[in-house]
Amino acid sequence: RKRIVSGVQPTGSIHLGNYLGAIKNWIALQNTYETLFFIVDLHAITLPYDTQQLSKATRDTAAIYLACGVDTSKGDENVGVALLTYPVLMASDILLYQFIGLWKKGFQLIHGLYGYLLDDNLDSFDIVLLQSDFVPVGEDQKQHLELTRELAERVNYLYGGRKWKKLGGRGGAIFKVPEPLISPAGARVMSLTDGLSKMSKSAPSDQSRINILDPKDVIANKIKRCKTDSYPGLEFDNPERPECNNLLSIYQLMSGKTKEEVAEECHNMNWGTFKSVLTDALIEHLHPIQLLMCVKLVRMSTSGACNVDFFSSLCVCSCPFLPDVRHAEIISDSTYLDKVLAEGASKAGDIADATLNNVYQAMGFLRT
Ligand code: TYM
Repeated sequence: RKRIVSGVQPTGSIHLGNYLGAIKNWIALQNTYETLFFIVDLHAITLPYDTQQLSKATRDTAAIYLACGVDTSKGDENVGVALLTYPVLMASDILLYQFIGLWKKGFQLIHGLYGYLLDDNLDSFDIVLLQSDFVPVGEDQKQHLELTRELAERVNYLYGGRKWKKLGGRGGAIFKVPEPLISPAGARVMSLTDGLSKMSKSAPSDQSRINILDPKDVIANKIKRCKTDSYPGLEFDNPERPECNNLLSIYQLMSGKTKEEVAEECHNMNWGTFKSVLTDALIEHLHPIQLLMCVKLVRMSTSGACNVDFFSSLCVCSCPFLPDVRHAEIISDSTYLDKVLAEGASKAGDIADATLNNVYQAMGFLRT
């Protein structure tokens, strides 16, 4: 099976851009691929930060992954949520999971691949390559992926020995050179207050973004106040109307309609009408995620006392038992989330160890 890796920084609030550019696509891909989705906490300390805030944001992000549908229960093959614990950036996050496994009679041998290769006795092994093939991200990460690819190619060129060619004919490959997977819709969600800048966690005004955990009234207010224009009707792809294109695109993704359907539905609308349609679509899409997040956490912290299916069914209407999400308290002491993170980190750690081992050997380091 092919593998995908991706992650989100635990800084600020996770917003619609993160969701549409990345997380939503992960969910669509996770049944087809083996997945590693991380919370890249070490990326979050490159600017001054508050240590308590970092732990809280890490748990928040884990909870959002789970509520959005990241599946952590797919057996050994799937590392749902991993917490990275080493001080290197994106290329290493991706390349560390370039595990090459050797299988013999059903057993996975994860140590010292080079040792086996030096035996020149590959015939007795079933060889399975498990490397990151794709990295599903938004448009803004494309250049980082380029650097990752260059580094992988360079290591292959410098250290990929002849013997590696025996592995599935990938001559000289220590690392598979991963491809970005950028879904055209949602690749670049723009700010609500300026259709020419990207929606971002670090923009000072919270009005510029829809956060995944924004309550209904906040969403309604942000859409009410978001920037529009004074052209008649609504249309996609007019460079003079970046806000219009952005809001229609958001509506398209939230409603699950096609671009053509949205263009047809909205071309005669005025802003007032459209804003209310968009607000409803956002709430309808995000509210179940928010509720599910609460429910999962409540369920865990009350040892299964709540029934997820029961609460999920309430998500389509307005849930009478849970007020609009005030999740912080529930998350902050959740042992459940910490357990999910620790399990993910341990599985990811095994793969990372194997990769490092291979690379060290390829580079001639002695490992004791
Ligand atoms: P981060 O945390 O800034 O963003 C997480 C994901 O959200 C996407 N994204 C957007 N997509 C569309 N429109 C937007 N306005 C928007 N804003 C953010 C990003 O493209 C990203 O996919 N360096 C990365 C995290 C990272 C990573 C990795 C990703 C670290 N290691 C390894 C993949 C693989 C970052 O800062 O993303």
